[in-house]
Amino acid sequence: MSKSTFTIEEMDIKLKTNYIGTNFIFYDEIGSTNDELLNDKSITQHGTVLFADNQFKGRGRLSREWLSYKDNSITFSILLTENLNAKNLNLINFAAALSVAESIENLFQLDVRLKWPNDVLIATRKVCGILVESVSKGDKIERVVVGIGVNVNQPMFEGHYNVPPTSIRKEFGRVVSRERLLAEILNEFESNIKKANKNPSVILDNWRSKCKMIGEKVKVNDGKEEFFGIFEDIDENGFLLLQDNKGMRKIFSGDVSLK
Ligand code: BTN
Repeated sequence: MSKSTFTIEEMDIKLKTNYIGTNFIFYDEIGSTNDELLNDKSITQHGTVLFADNQFKGRGRLSREWLSYKDNSITFSILLTENLNAKNLNLINFAAALSVAESIENLFQLDVRLKWPNDVLIATRKVCGILVESVSKGDKIERVVVGIGVNVNQPMFEGHYNVPPTSIRKEFGRVVSRERLLAEILNEFESNIKKANKNPSVILDNWRSKCKMIGEKVKVNDGKEEFFGIFEDIDENGFLLLQDNKGMRKIFSGDVSLK
């Protein structure tokens, strides 16, 4: 395998966090960074970041595959072991999506939008996917793994995708630094997790302001059924509130698209 072009020192210089990424584990290649942090119980440090230059078994939501591209994408997972409860999992999701969106805006001034529950889009095309998973013992959540995959420098995409993909390079018009972007995301994530713990409504409101589907006619597929209605809002736990001809329906997971 060819040597990685990712330089940890270059990322480290831009990292301003107190705990996110202070334990940084790098793999040239791995099946899935989420699987590794979920399964390797010897890794315990809150805020550990496990980064892989290449994933050959990357997983997405709803058992989908996540394709990554060596040298062109960033794929990593963050381990959280403190301040966890079942209620704040969606908030962690939103904090992660916001962190990616804010980082892309800060560094490249692109118009970034969020799609429920946790896609990051540039206009209508997907630039990042997030998969939050947890391990529980009884009713106690022991570890949460926040997996993030960002399309960074792909010049183009081939094949069929659920949502049309894009990369920062395609939208910004230039190859960009993966190290700089990763550091920015981790900096923003630490700050957003602090907000999520202290004042969750700030995270919910920031997420709402970047979700351009609220108030629109949408189709929601929850994996079993399709529903049509108005995307009314998200509730305090981050679930989608859909107004349809039967009233207000709460959607816990699924895919949403404009109708
Ligand atoms: C989705 O859009 O369905 C979520 C995609 C999440 C992909 C990331 S890449 C890093 C981490 N490891 C995985 O196997 N998946 C997540």
